[in-house]
Parts: sequence; structure tokens; C-alpha cells
Amino acid sequence: MQDTLIHPLVPVPSSSLRIPREPSGFLAGDECPLYFSLVVPTYNESKNVHAIVHLLTGLLDEAMPGNYELIIVDDDSPDQTWKIAQEMTPDYPALRVMRRQYERGLSTAVIRGWQVAEGQVLGVIDGDLQHPPEVLLKLLDAIQRGADLAVASRHVEGGGVSDWGFTRRFLSRGAQLLGLIILPNVVGRVSDPMSGYFMVRRSAIAERDLNPKGYKILLEVLGRGEVEQVAEVGYVFQERQEGESKVTWKQYVDYLHHLARLRSRGRVARLKKRLKVPLTRFAQFGLVGLSGVFVDMVIFYLLSDPMTLGLGLTRSKILAAEAAIINNFLWNDTWTFRDISSKQKGWKQRLKRFLKFNTICLMGLILNVLILNILFNVLGINRYLANLIAIALVTFWNFWINLKLSWRVTQVK
Ligand code: GDD
Ligand code: MN
Repeated sequence: MQDTLIHPLVPVPSSSLRIPREPSGFLAGDECPLYFSLVVPTYNESKNVHAIVHLLTGLLDEAMPGNYELIIVDDDSPDQTWKIAQEMTPDYPALRVMRRQYERGLSTAVIRGWQVAEGQVLGVIDGDLQHPPEVLLKLLDAIQRGADLAVASRHVEGGGVSDWGFTRRFLSRGAQLLGLIILPNVVGRVSDPMSGYFMVRRSAIAERDLNPKGYKILLEVLGRGEVEQVAEVGYVFQERQEGESKVTWKQYVDYLHHLARLRSRGRVARLKKRLKVPLTRFAQFGLVGLSGVFVDMVIFYLLSDPMTLGLGLTRSKILAAEAAIINNFLWNDTWTFRDISSKQKGWKQRLKRFLKFNTICLMGLILNVLILNILFNVLGINRYLANLIAIALVTFWNFWINLKLSWRVTQVK
């Protein structure tokens, strides 16, 4: 008997982007997990969704009846792709549909789909029929023969693009070359790192903190997963017949951002751990400090220069330094430590923070003079180098003490 009820939407996980080691249904007591879960990310694919579901289920029903699922992850498409897909569920029992309303982006859509997946092998394919469905069986075959990751590639035997102009080929290859330079041991592992058509064993990416940016989910899998054996299968990237591509210049920026993030992943994390210093915050603090130098200089000029006000040197310097301190405080309070200051609202609290900051910075100034004297007069270090070292040390002091005292997170019960 065919059930005719429309299946409810799959709830969107709100947790971090981690894929569980065991599928949730399996943990809940299902005797045997599915073999394969295929995610189809969609955005405005109303004209393609029927065909893609029909083709994929046709293939998979033959290859592994009852042992797979298809998960459409739609980002609340204005053309209601999710709704059309949901209305197909009575006819396609392997189909599940997720509608994301509060999150966007191709890569995270894929991960959200994998998070709810029941399969041991997790796959992804575009929803616009540009990825030929038949290749799926070859990819599955490669996994069955032992690969951890099987990628459909435009750049191996049997692969290609149908009708791309010079500019598009150039951009695509340029992006790949850049990836090879920035992240050789990730991007260099496959011939087509831009592919969005692949499958991977759950065990290779389970329990990893995934953090992708933009379009290229494969980079994330290669960069953070534990992928040993990689297989590639050639395919020809088809021209779109319906709907349109969502690629804009933003995807190129995201791609660079993603590469940079993957590259710095291990190194920055290790450094942070070793130093026990909130590096990002420190960098922000340093930047604010730099802006303070400008403020100091400008005010100092306005007050002391004979062409302007012509005030005395010391008086000018004190006022200029104070202006810089106020400048730095405002930036630090609204930017560097915004997470903390937003929890301690009210002008009284703010004034308190400011007075502490001011005091600590003045102490820093005294420290600065002291260190400079020791380095220059006692140790005989070149005066400018000595000043540079003094500034660095005092910046660190200012940061550390302010972090502990001015922007301390006070636990109020
Ligand atoms: N859920 C969701 N959210 N889906 C999205 C989003 C999004 O923000 N953006 C795009 N998609 C879906 C599209 O609906 C389509 O099914 C698929 O992701 C690919 O998007 P396209 O915009 O058609 O991309 P493309 O054809 O230019 O680029 C593809 O080219 C590569 C070349 O091999 C990408 O899909 C790559 O993954 C692919 O490998
Ligand atoms: Mn496409």
C-alpha cells in the first residue's frame, strides 16, 4: 500500500557542525543503519527538483533498494523548492526534506544534511542536473572497493566540461592553482578540488569540528577529515537546462577565506593553546593601540605646534596622551571586548571600566619609561630598538591587565 501522507520536514540541527559517529536512528535502536545518504543542496531549483529526485531514486532503487535515503536541504528558496520536494514524499519514501530558514550557504547545507543522515556513507550532488546521476554508481563502487573518499572529477580520464568559455576555464583553474599554492597538501590530493559531487565514509569525518566557508565543501572534508584512500571518477559537467547558477564574485572571496582558515587551523590553535593568550583579541587590542598613536600625534601637533595653538610641550603631551587613551578605550570597549562590555551595560559601569583602563595605561606609561631606561642605559641597546621592545612589552602588559581587571567578566548571581 502506498502511503499518501506528506512527510513532515526534517528538523534542522542547531548544534555545532559536527557529524555524529553513529547515526541518530541507529542510536535510538534501529537495528541496522542505512548504507548510503545522499544530500542534495538546493536553492531555487523548483524546475529541477522533480527530475533529480526521480532520476536518483530510479538508480538507487535498483542498486540498493531500501538501503539509502535522499536528503534535500533547501535554504528556504523563494520559489518554494522545499515545498515541491515535500509534496513528492508520498511517492518517494526514501526522500527527506529539510528547510533551513536561519542559516545559509551551500557548504553548511551539506553538513546539516549529513548531520541528520542515517547512512554509513555520506554523499553530495548538485540539485540542478549538472552532475550526471549515473556517475553515482561508479562512486559507490569505488567506496565499496575500499576508498574513504570518492570524488567525481572533471580532470581525469572521462571527465570534462561541456561548453565553457576561456574566462570560466581560466577562473576555475586559477582558483585551483591558488589553492595548490596556499594549501598544497589538501588541494593537491585530488585533481578536482572544486568538485561538489563526491561521497565519503562517515567514519572519516565524524566528530570533527567542521567550519566551512562558502561553496567548497570538499576542501573541508579533505582539510579536516581523516581521509586515507581517495578515488576519482571522471565526469562531464553538464550545462544547466533550468534555473540559474548561484555563483557570484562572493564565492571567490569565500574560497580564499576558506583556504586561509584551513591553512591556519592547526597552527593558530596550537599557538593559542601554548600561549594561553586570546590571540584575536590581542590583535584587535594592538590595532586599537596603533590608532591611538595617530590620535596622540594629531592632537599633539594641534596643541603644541607654533603654527597652531603653540601650547607648552608637557601640557600638550599630557592632553594628547589622554585623548589617545579615550580613543583606545572607546574602540576597545565597543570592539575588542564588546562581548564582555555588552554584559555590563549602563554608563556607571562604563565609567568604571574607563577609569580602570586609564589608570592601567598610565602605569603602562611609567613602565614604558622604566624599561626604556633599563634597556638603553643599563644594557646599552640601541635607543630605537629599546623603545620598540618597551612598547611591545607595555602593550602586552596593558592588554593583560586590562583583560583581567577592566573587562573582567563578573559573575553576578
Ligand atoms: N541549500 C543551498 N544553499 N543550496 C545551494 C546554495 C545555498 O546557499 N547555493 C547553491 N546551492 C545549490 C544549488 O541549488 C545547486 O543545486 C548546487 O547547490 C550548486 O549550485 P550552482 O549555483 O548550480 O553551482 P555551480 O553549478 O556554478 O557550481 C558547481 O560547480 C562545481 C563544479 O564541479 C558547484 O556545485 C560545485 O559544487 C561543483 O562541483
Ligand atoms: Mn550548477
